[in-house]
Amino acid sequence: MPFGKVTLNDGREIPEIAFGTGSVWKRQDATPFVAQALQSGFVHVDTAQAYQNEESIPAALKETNMSRDKVWITTKYWKGGPYGSLGIRNELLKSLERLQTSSVDLYLIHGPEGLGDTIANSWEQFEAVAQEGLAKSIGVSNFTKPDLEELMSSAKLTPAVNQIQLNPYTLAQQQPVIDLCRKHGIVIEAYSPLRLITRYPGGPVDEPVRKAAERLNATPVQVLLAWVRSKGAVVVTTSSKAERLQEYLAAGDLPPLTNEEIAAIDEAGRQGPVALESRGLTKGFENTGVIITFQPDPLISGRVSRFGTDSWARSSKSLLLVVLLLVFVCLRRTSVSL
Ligand SMILES: NC(=O)c1ccc[n+]([C@@H]2O[C@H](COP(=O)([O-])OP(=O)(O)OC[C@H]3O[C@@H](n4cnc5c(N)ncnc54)[C@H](OP(=O)(O)O)[C@@H]3O)[C@@H](O)[C@H]2O)c1
Repeated sequence: MPFGKVTLNDGREIPEIAFGTGSVWKRQDATPFVAQALQSGFVHVDTAQAYQNEESIPAALKETNMSRDKVWITTKYWKGGPYGSLGIRNELLKSLERLQTSSVDLYLIHGPEGLGDTIANSWEQFEAVAQEGLAKSIGVSNFTKPDLEELMSSAKLTPAVNQIQLNPYTLAQQQPVIDLCRKHGIVIEAYSPLRLITRYPGGPVDEPVRKAAERLNATPVQVLLAWVRSKGAVVVTTSSKAERLQEYLAAGDLPPLTNEEIAAIDEAGRQGPVALESRGLTKGFENTGVIITFQPDPLISGRVSRFGTDSWARSSKSLLLVVLLLVFVCLRRTSVSL
């Protein structure tokens, strides 16, 4: 069945595969790549305030002559470092300005650590922006089972989605939150579905994926996307290459994986690395010879964006200079008084 739409608990329909402007595109102009994705057939773009390239989306719409209402746009709120100091509603207004739209299709809490407030207070503000029509649907990202339980204890609106890192190596760790989401009708969005190709090649999942790919006359990438679909999740991926975008979309035309294939991939995934890098929870390896390279959360490293300098990095440097100056003045005074 080709990639279609998944119905959310608020009745809206989200396209089943998204092109992301995070990961490799963070703090870079992603316009040509978003345009390429739209031209290839993607109608769902996943971005975030913290990626610092929301402007790429209206630019790509313009480049491809596509109208805003044909494309699902998700963006995310994060408070931390240089981001989010204006509060949820004002930060969303800023995102809308950058996205050149009056509302987003989906607004997500980027992660529970990126709130600077309680989950309950923050979610109340998310509910308010949904009520105001600034976000048509609202949801969360990187929420664990306890985070979601905390939110649900005071929520009036149930989150429409929980966007989490989901691939065979994270399944075991994510299973409790996946089960809770299923109970509340919260759709899972799977980001970084291709981690075992991009970061952990040579691990235990490779073999069952290869076998399924052989049976289906498909590529391992396509089998991984079919595996995400078997979990009922929306795919959130990306690529710089037109042929790879076609490969992703063609995965929608594959017959489903068999129960045996899914079980073999799940089981092999349990033998591999637990890789929730976005929350700093990477645990290394159990029973494998795969080599992991842990990357610290890129959200909190300061760099220069095409769309403006990273003021947080600049202010940190200024603070350091002031401290050094003060130390110098104190030392001089001490030596003079001596
Ligand atoms: N909510 C969150 O906290 C969060 C965190 C991370 C990501 N995300 C979202 O998810 C999106 C996708 O994340 P991701 O990049 O980690 O997804 P991914 O689907 O796991 O990886 C995509 C990458 O795989 C590469 N790739 C595909 N096929 C390959 C092959 N056969 N061999 C080697 N490389 C291959 C692509 O590179 P090429 O360009 O060479 O094709 C591309 O850069 C992000 O852009 C962002 O929107 C959200």
